[in-house]
Amino acid sequence: MKKILLIIAAAIQLTVAGQQPIEISILANKPVCDIQPTMWGVFFEDINFAADGGIYAELVKNRSFEFTLPLTGWEQVLQNGNGRVVPTFYSPAKSGNPHYVTVYVNAGNGAFGLSNQGFRGIGIKQDNLYNFSINARISDGSDIKMKVEILDSAGALIGAAQPIGFTTAWRKYHASIKASSTEPKAMLRIMFMGKGSADIDMVSLFPADTWKGRPGGMRKDIVQMIADLKPGFVRFPGGCIVEGRDLTNRYQWKNTIGPVEDRKMIINRWNMEIRNRQAPDYFQTFGLGFFEYFQLAEDMGAEPLPILNCGMSCQFNAGEVVPLNELDPYIQDALDLIEFANGSTSSVWGKLRASMGHPEPFNLKFIGVGNEQWDEQYIERYKLFEKALKEKHPEIKIVSGSGPSASGAYFDYAWGELKKLGPALIDEHYYMPPEWFLKNAGRYDNYDRSGIKVFAGEYAAHGREGSAPESRNSWLSALTEAAFMTGLERNAAVVNMASYAPLLAHVDAWQWRPDLIWFDNLQTIGTPNYYVQKMFSTHKGTQVIPALRGGNPLEGADSVYASAVIDKTNFNLYIKIVNVSKSTKSVNFNLEGASYAKSGEIETLKAKGMYDYNSISNPKNISPVTRTIAVSGKKLAVMLDPSSVNVVTLPFKK
Ligand code: AHR
Repeated sequence: MKKILLIIAAAIQLTVAGQQPIEISILANKPVCDIQPTMWGVFFEDINFAADGGIYAELVKNRSFEFTLPLTGWEQVLQNGNGRVVPTFYSPAKSGNPHYVTVYVNAGNGAFGLSNQGFRGIGIKQDNLYNFSINARISDGSDIKMKVEILDSAGALIGAAQPIGFTTAWRKYHASIKASSTEPKAMLRIMFMGKGSADIDMVSLFPADTWKGRPGGMRKDIVQMIADLKPGFVRFPGGCIVEGRDLTNRYQWKNTIGPVEDRKMIINRWNMEIRNRQAPDYFQTFGLGFFEYFQLAEDMGAEPLPILNCGMSCQFNAGEVVPLNELDPYIQDALDLIEFANGSTSSVWGKLRASMGHPEPFNLKFIGVGNEQWDEQYIERYKLFEKALKEKHPEIKIVSGSGPSASGAYFDYAWGELKKLGPALIDEHYYMPPEWFLKNAGRYDNYDRSGIKVFAGEYAAHGREGSAPESRNSWLSALTEAAFMTGLERNAAVVNMASYAPLLAHVDAWQWRPDLIWFDNLQTIGTPNYYVQKMFSTHKGTQVIPALRGGNPLEGADSVYASAVIDKTNFNLYIKIVNVSKSTKSVNFNLEGASYAKSGEIETLKAKGMYDYNSISNPKNISPVTRTIAVSGKKLAVMLDPSSVNVVTLPFKK
């Protein structure tokens, strides 16, 4: 009877697939190479309001009145009272935060004040607590009190604090506000009653419920989405933001540490970069600075991977280069960063780290020199960085760039020169059409196994754009990336790190798409591309093993792509297998070189249409589903759904 059933099952497979099953040998006892713990990571850049207005949970925009137009984000509110607001400078001068505003109040029986609309509104959740704070003083003889209110989009009060009175000396005042309802586009209002003048600065509102409960910390839901990827590394702070449109606008890590209110903010380079997505209110307050990046990476068990400016601004913009004989301060920044991360608490920078609450070293192991720089100008500068870094910190692995493209003269030149030098990894970037990802699944098959390793540092399939922001993260883009990623995994001997880019985008404030994770003021959603990343990164394994069809890797013949790994820490086999065709595929895995439990599972990600996507209103439209599968001795038969990404998990027999 059992035999008859098996024959029928085999016949059904043939009928469904309309062809012989694809026979794949999985050779568990023939490991090809180790997989680095850093294999799948994340690329964080403050683009698309990823930091201010995103992961950094501050809800007030331009809290310190330091935007180029000091009242950006603020509006005056008259409630039967008069007044005016005048921006002014501290005296003696303060370099990090030079301005504050004076509010002149003549409110009679009413009130005069300011409202702040946050970053495209303020997200408020019912029954949650919000921590308000302000630095303030009043002038002699003033008789002023201030009330703090949170209003919904219709102007109704949904939270308020007890009125606050000030003294004539600068002080920080705190209040806690409980929200009575949920509102994605609330506003904050600070209203002054009485007569006189008040100086105010650092007007701040944070949810009390932040990631790890840190006051003034990160937005919990967004960080959780990232942490769920179990990233092997966190690359920060970019991206082009490292370079700046010109050198004054470059990212300088030393300006991003120490007390938050002394961090010198700058215009975000994405502010005016994209012609049809300009955001004049996009600045970098550095509330999320290098200390917080290191802490975030540590929280997630990921290696920090800072990328530093190499004395060049973006070559697509000003393209400024620092003369070679003036590069020392830039190189010193790199050396000091290593001391900040790893130095003893008696060193200058290590002491500062300790004073910020982290006496233990952050264990920095990698440092990137330059982002997407190209040509001789880059190599000349890279050489000087490499020399100094290797001399002082031979323990640190250097990551170099290879320019903005996946091939071409600049790319070839960079690889040619860098091979003569000593980076541990070369960063390659590819923002290409979906078809490119299919054609390039074998890209690394012939890279030198004993040479410099690859960091696939920024990639994403760029296809059709729809009107909804999230629409460019189509199923087609995710499917083709998954096919390509089997090639990255199969070539883990060469590819030691990979990260999709960019990571985050606000649906109302983005500049660049596609992006891995979208959010609004209250919600965060994973794109299909996110689920692909998660399927790979949470089934990373420790060693690559052969997955072969007729002795060859599965790189697209019959529209199937596959790779396999074993995990020696939890004794599992993981097979990633992607069917990019419109038909069901019947696959027989021949499980050689090991014995497995009788059942395992298959996690499948698929969609109805190639241009389907996940949105804030339909966040799980495309999300993985897991089912149990049975192993029959050394055979595992699986039907692959049309256009599907699959991860098979089989535990080894104990
Ligand atoms: O990921 C967005 C941008 O793409 C990065 O800032 C840059 O490195 C690349 O050109």
